[in-house]
Amino acid sequence: MAESDSKIDTIPPDKIPRHVAIIMDGNGRWALARGLPRLAGHRAGTENLRRILRASVEFGIKYLTIYAFSTENWGRPPEEVRGLMRILEDVIDRELDELDKEGVQLRHIGRLERLDPRLQEKVLQAIERTKDNDRLILNVAFNYGGRDEIVCAIQRMIRDGVKAEDVTAELVSRYLFTAGVPDPDLIIRTSGELRISNFLIWQAAYAEWYVTPTYWPDFDKEEFRRALEAYAQRDRRFGGISPAVEDKVHAG
Ligand code: IPE
Ligand code: IPE
Ligand code: MG
Repeated sequence: MAESDSKIDTIPPDKIPRHVAIIMDGNGRWALARGLPRLAGHRAGTENLRRILRASVEFGIKYLTIYAFSTENWGRPPEEVRGLMRILEDVIDRELDELDKEGVQLRHIGRLERLDPRLQEKVLQAIERTKDNDRLILNVAFNYGGRDEIVCAIQRMIRDGVKAEDVTAELVSRYLFTAGVPDPDLIIRTSGELRISNFLIWQAAYAEWYVTPTYWPDFDKEEFRRALEAYAQRDRRFGGISPAVEDKVHAG
């Protein structure tokens, strides 16, 4: 076994996050630093996604959510928006066979409505084709915004005639795009920005964060492993106190 593969064994399986969500940020700055157009950065970012997907399967992560296009990203120059749409289309065309073979189940969170009808159809077909795969659930957040998701959930609850007294946190979760998916345990943001940028604002309530200055196209398997190692060291208290402290309290 290669050295790099043996190191992951040091993370106990119960310390591997079940759900990792990634804000894949910094493609533009990666390109700028190389004197390349921003779209070259997005292409490089897409290449990197392959590596991270493969690594996620190896590390035993069950759910991976990636932020690929936000509701706010429509505000970018039209040429960049068009380029990002084309990249989504190319990824489906080129990678679907491989993803399917590797047992990846593709899902989408966000709204498809605003996309070109042909692209919408492609996404729906990819979802349908991979729906029985269960090795890794890949949620692609595309035209996704956390506020939009909550607005959409409220609208649907009202339309369904949900009574005020029946509204619970569990019910709200079931109305979100992520219904049925456990909340993210670990959220990774590349490129050093310390903000949530409208990503999983409800689901992130108790997520652990890992922010790295590395731009997304350079975020490799080794750094991914470091993020997982950092996560494994965290003491997740969920508002309580950690078991070690509790033992002391009882002993004393
Ligand atoms: C993230 O990279 C990809 C998308 C938002 C689509 P950016 O394009 O935001 O890269 P920076 O932040 O400008 O470097
Ligand atoms: C968040 O990155 C969206 C995606 C990674 C798809 P942005 O680059 O759009 O976020 P801000 O503008 O820096 O907050
Ligand atoms: Mg950015």
